[in-house]
Amino acid sequence: MEEKIGLILNEALDAIYKADTDIALIEARNKYLSKKSELMGLFGQMKDVPSDKKAVYGQLINDARSKIDSALMQKKVKFDQEALQKRFIAEKIDISLPASSEDPGVRNPYYIIRDEMVAIFLALGYEVAEGPEVESDHYNFELLNIPKDHPARDMQDTFYIDPATLLRTHTSPVQARSMEKAQGTPIRMICPGKVYRRDDDDATHSHQFAQVEGLLIDKNINLGHLQATLSLFVRKLFGEKREIRLRSSYFPFTEPSVEVDVSCAECGGKGCSMCKGSGWIEILGAGMVHPNVLRMSGYDPDVWSGFAFGVGIERVAMLRYGIDDIRRFYQNDIRFIKQFMKG
Ligand code: FA5
Repeated sequence: MEEKIGLILNEALDAIYKADTDIALIEARNKYLSKKSELMGLFGQMKDVPSDKKAVYGQLINDARSKIDSALMQKKVKFDQEALQKRFIAEKIDISLPASSEDPGVRNPYYIIRDEMVAIFLALGYEVAEGPEVESDHYNFELLNIPKDHPARDMQDTFYIDPATLLRTHTSPVQARSMEKAQGTPIRMICPGKVYRRDDDDATHSHQFAQVEGLLIDKNINLGHLQATLSLFVRKLFGEKREIRLRSSYFPFTEPSVEVDVSCAECGGKGCSMCKGSGWIEILGAGMVHPNVLRMSGYDPDVWSGFAFGVGIERVAMLRYGIDDIRRFYQNDIRFIKQFMKG
């Protein structure tokens, strides 16, 4: 029997050594350790063994069983570790790959300049007002001293919704709206907003652009106040060295009316291609509020006076950043906008 046990043990260890799959191990366990296995069958033959040998043979069978069991266990642990290792390799995440980069958003220079302008006037005690882009003829023209058939209407032809309703041609209707609202009390307001005109698009004109309107109404306001305010505004926007120049002009809603030029940053006022040789660049229209406009909106022109101005936001941004074409603000060219990314 001793020899038989040795043979079964060797055969079993050899089979376990050669097993290369989990299934082969299960088959080996069934063949060598199950109740019906040859080894376990030896227990049934113990009855024929002399009694003084029973304990020795019993011990030999049990030893063989534990050796086979531990060989099976070791092989199983080896298989499990190999399988785990394979999964580690197969499921490995390569954290050394560069992360996909997100392009952060960039503010359009139009918004940068608009907010700067608003901040300058907020610091001077002005309030921000709003008005509708779809405006009535009444506010856009009539209350601004531009009656029907007035030639000044031709300068600001626009898109009509119906004969009495239009897309506003300037932010000036917010002057009349603010005066109606303030009902004869002092006013300091600015209004940034979109305006529309039937202008042909070119490098400096767009059919849709934006203005900032300003209006100050109080007692004893004169042209000097307007000049000082705009001078401060221009220096804050373009730098301390910049000068302004008031040229007489005409708007039906201001008297006197002026166009305001700023000294050219490119040549310092000597004259260059940027300022078309004049040394000055026009940025806005302004003037003292016309007595008719004051009267129509409930202010007695013998008591109250004020100034107003309207500045094109894109035109200012173009000057500040040296932008050569107003259409760049709307074309959504990522190369243009990325230049305004903060470093
Ligand atoms: C006006 O619109 C007046 N409402 C301004 C004003 C307000 C005068 C208050 C007096 C008192 P003007 O048409 O000049 O004026 O336009 C003012 C500014 O808007 C111009 O100086 C320019 O900067 C800008 N602008 C005018 N037309 C266009 C256009 N088609 N595209 C881009 N910017 C324009």
